[in-house]
Amino acid sequence: MSRTLSGGARVAGVVGAPVRHSLSPLIHNAWIEGLGLDAVYAPFCPPETGFEAFIQGLRGGAIAGLNVTLPFKEQALSLADAPTPAAQAAGAANLLLFEPDGTLRADNTDGAGLLAAFAGQAPGFDPAAAPVVILGAGGAARGAAAAFVAAGAPEVRILNRTLARAQAIAERLGPRVSPLPLDQAPAAFEDAGAVINATSAGLSGQGELDVPLAATPEGCVVMDMVYKPLITPFLAQAEAAGRRTVDGLAMLIGQAVPSFTAFFGVAPPSGIDVRALALKSLGLNERV
Ligand code: ATR
Repeated sequence: MSRTLSGGARVAGVVGAPVRHSLSPLIHNAWIEGLGLDAVYAPFCPPETGFEAFIQGLRGGAIAGLNVTLPFKEQALSLADAPTPAAQAAGAANLLLFEPDGTLRADNTDGAGLLAAFAGQAPGFDPAAAPVVILGAGGAARGAAAAFVAAGAPEVRILNRTLARAQAIAERLGPRVSPLPLDQAPAAFEDAGAVINATSAGLSGQGELDVPLAATPEGCVVMDMVYKPLITPFLAQAEAAGRRTVDGLAMLIGQAVPSFTAFFGVAPPSGIDVRALALKSLGLNERV
């Protein structure tokens, strides 16, 4: 890094456990450098039981704010004094802002990142045009469901192996959310405008999801929140069926954009290809 920080540098960061894998420092510091800001974005990894003490000690604005990643997103929301409706609906916060008066504000930009990923990689996609199917019922699925309800989706179908978890999300988010067992996938796909994989299947050797993406209509857009590999077996199946796809890296960068603006008071520069930087650091190639 060629820039020099002054004693007045604005500080933000990401907190998670583990945080070593996070691409957020790479992305935000590339933007900081591109704009020539006197600022830095650092990783923080408190012990899992020490998150609350870590956050409470930062009240008052010692640093501008933090992105929050696993496993702290729900706890981050519970500590905040002023959560946005987006964070409340998602049941989680990925952005904390420390006000000088001690107030802790919480927001969730994952939903905006998800919609930005669709806008960027599936131009013309209209979230309000047709039912959206979300696979999985963990925190990632709830956030995605909240984003699509807010974006006007006529119906959000949550399909999960454990139906009770899908039902719990539906109870929180209201009548436009329908909980369904995972084996209803073929019928749920028939008139879907989008199908999103928000399960952890395929991660840490848990086995792949077995759902028939070819049962979706031709114009359906298929998205996977996982970005390593960039083209997951799920997205490869969608491409083989001729569907447009959206990848998890676009969502990661999409959630970083409003976070950066909140931390540093200025939008990220347009001329920095953070996607290429992220792919390089992951040892991945752009799809051809
Ligand atoms: P997160 O909060 O990150 O979304 P999570 O709470 O661990 O993660 O949720 C993981 C999701 O992936 C759950 O919906 C889980 O289904 P269950 O609720 O039935 O456990 C889903 N999942 C994980 N492995 C799966 C697999 N092999 N097949 C289908 N669903 C799977």
